[in-house]
Amino acid sequence: MQQVSISRLTTRIVTSSVLAMLVTLGMGHTLAAQQNVQFASSNSADAELTFSADIAPILQENCQVCHQEGSIGPMPLMTYQDARRYARRIKDMVVQREMPPYQYDTDTGIQDLKYDPRMSEEDIATIVAWVDSDMAEGNPADMPPPVEWPDPTEFTLAQRFGAPDVVVVSDPFDVPEIGQDLWWQPSVPSGISTPRCIRAIETKAVSVDGRAVTHHANTTFRGGDGGGGRLSEYALGKVGEIIPEGACRTAPANGQVSFDIHYWPNGVQVDGAQVKVGIWLYPEGYEGDHRQTLTLYGLQGGRGFDIAPHGSLMTQGFHTFRTPVRVDSFQPHGHTRLVAASLRILRENGRTEMVGMVSNWSALWHHSHIFEDGVAPLLDVGDKLILTSWYDNTVDNRYNPDPDQWVSIGDRTADEMSHFWIAVTHLDEEGIEKIRADRQARPVLDRD
Ligand code: HEC
Repeated sequence: MQQVSISRLTTRIVTSSVLAMLVTLGMGHTLAAQQNVQFASSNSADAELTFSADIAPILQENCQVCHQEGSIGPMPLMTYQDARRYARRIKDMVVQREMPPYQYDTDTGIQDLKYDPRMSEEDIATIVAWVDSDMAEGNPADMPPPVEWPDPTEFTLAQRFGAPDVVVVSDPFDVPEIGQDLWWQPSVPSGISTPRCIRAIETKAVSVDGRAVTHHANTTFRGGDGGGGRLSEYALGKVGEIIPEGACRTAPANGQVSFDIHYWPNGVQVDGAQVKVGIWLYPEGYEGDHRQTLTLYGLQGGRGFDIAPHGSLMTQGFHTFRTPVRVDSFQPHGHTRLVAASLRILRENGRTEMVGMVSNWSALWHHSHIFEDGVAPLLDVGDKLILTSWYDNTVDNRYNPDPDQWVSIGDRTADEMSHFWIAVTHLDEEGIEKIRADRQARPVLDRD
């Protein structure tokens, strides 16, 4: 699937750069003139875009995994008729970078991420041009070959790591059609029999219906030997976590996985809702050089706040560490009044650096932004993390369910929150120097 689009992209780039080369060499005028004739004979340059040749491959690569019968998207986007019917919405969603759902600014902060479904500018421009043209279907023979879609209830990370080593499933819980938020906290044996280092984790509702009512599902190891603590965090829309090689997030032997699940009745009764956690382990004997933890970082001292009706608010939390650290991933958390969030570093010398920013927050999609190993930010002792969250309780916030309410910090969906989940590898002086030396020896390649 990826290959198809990469080769299409290459063809386009090659075509345009060959043309540019010919023009520079003074040999292009015939070709360019021919192109002009071709453009002039049709309504516009965009008229050559067709659904079959240009749009279907983009939808296939970026949308259809969710927008097909039986998956989590509200409607299928498979056929020419589907695309025409939703054309305006499709255009708006891709231009605003709300679909595919991965809210992470493209123009600031670290861009090199381990899981990154954002669309290329070029594909967005192609969709815009097609929707703004007469939306030709083209020749159905130009359609990309069909894709064998994974089962939507399968783990997404299985495509990268294969089947998980361990799957832990929560006890069933009946979620009513309507009602208040509900919390469910079962404990289940982990099935891990020797202390191990975790390589990746994905939390997922067992059924497609169950997904929509599972607002969050956090997991912690309890009991057992050799490590433990926080296993993972899940909030609606998140895929998973990947722990970099060399680090170890520990799983104890013979522990229990304790679930903290927040169900959110939303119009569909789901009997026997369950959450499964897939855990991929590093091989037995792998210990990693440094410990990695996933921790909730919020406002100091758990300070509360209130947002006035029709008001707005900015909160900031700061955090320093006792040892040098590497920030491997971060994920802002908030609800419907949160509109933007950023993670920055204040260096001891007074300079600030943007780590990553989300300025089109949607509580429907929580994402862990996982940095590529070569670019994950390093903090020396004395450097600070700055966690900023912006809230909008006015009518301008389209997700706001009720601008007349006072909103306070709290656990319910109607309350707000101000914290980030951050995966941190705890280093020492030697460890941070070694990472710096390795990066100097192997600079990150610019992949663009
Ligand atoms: C990871 C799954 C997923 C992917 C990938 C995805 N969508 Fe969606 N999409 C959803 C879900 C779930 C919703 C409903 C909730 C929401 O709006 O966030 C949605 C909503 C939409 C809507 C809004 C429907 C309405 O209410 O008007 C449009 C339009 C849309 N998607 C288009 C796209 C397009 C175009 C792509 C690819 C470029 C895409 N989506 C990729 C899951 C996905």
